[in-house]
Amino acid sequence: MSINIYDRDDFFEEYNKLERSQKGLDGALEWPLLRDMVGDVKDARILDLGCGMGWFCEWAVKEGSKSVRGVDISNNMLERARARVPQGTFDRADLETFTLKDDDQYDLVYSSVALHYLPDITRLVGQVYAGLVPGGRFVFSVEHPVFTSPRHAGWRWDPDHPSEKIWPVNAYSDESKRVTNWLAEGFEKYHRTMETYLTTLLSAGFRLVALKEWMVTEETVALNPGWRYERDRPLFLLISVEKPA
Ligand SMILES: C[S@@+](CC[C@H](N)C(=O)[O-])C[C@H]1O[C@@H](n2cnc3c(N)ncnc32)[C@H](O)[C@@H]1O
Repeated sequence: MSINIYDRDDFFEEYNKLERSQKGLDGALEWPLLRDMVGDVKDARILDLGCGMGWFCEWAVKEGSKSVRGVDISNNMLERARARVPQGTFDRADLETFTLKDDDQYDLVYSSVALHYLPDITRLVGQVYAGLVPGGRFVFSVEHPVFTSPRHAGWRWDPDHPSEKIWPVNAYSDESKRVTNWLAEGFEKYHRTMETYLTTLLSAGFRLVALKEWMVTEETVALNPGWRYERDRPLFLLISVEKPA
């Protein structure tokens, strides 16, 4: 089974303090862009991979979706999702081995910042393709490959231009585990190139609908000058693909 850091007390305590844990989708920086890619969910049958606390499922129910199902590896997360969205179905599963049943049929499969926890998404993408109706969409966000790439993640001062910071995009071709200290020591995730994300989806049979690279806007920087450097590096990769009708 994959590592389940969200059920580790020290990590979960810190995760609970984040804006996205306190405010839900309104506290998720990439949500406005992702919501535009998701579009209308009225009457849709929805599967949320790595559903976390169920914020997206809650939103989808309010928007009139027909059914919502969330899958996550963390009991902490599922407990909150079940309490938040009594209309939903929530299953504990590891996305590395998660398998859909033959009669599982979805109009939308969604995933928000979860797939970079998996060493390989090829099998899961095949499952998603099989579980979508023709014309159905798979919309997801992950940490951007530029963000996941460095072996030792962190801004550096540019030695030639001391007032400027650099994000070191080294090891880009090394698609493997990265260990950082996000919220707790020994936080693990996986780096994949942009090419791998795209070819995995296209090879499964999907058609690309949209691809966005999330960075903070000038407006955000004007309000929070400390975010200035986030204009220099994309933080999230957002992809929407469709199973051809
Ligand atoms: C950053 S949180 C995002 C949660 C939610 N999608 C959101 O946007 O608020 C990542 C989620 O992925 C889940 N996750 C990580 N690895 C997983 C795996 N192998 N199988 C299932 N869920 C996993 C975590 O438990 C966590 O709930």
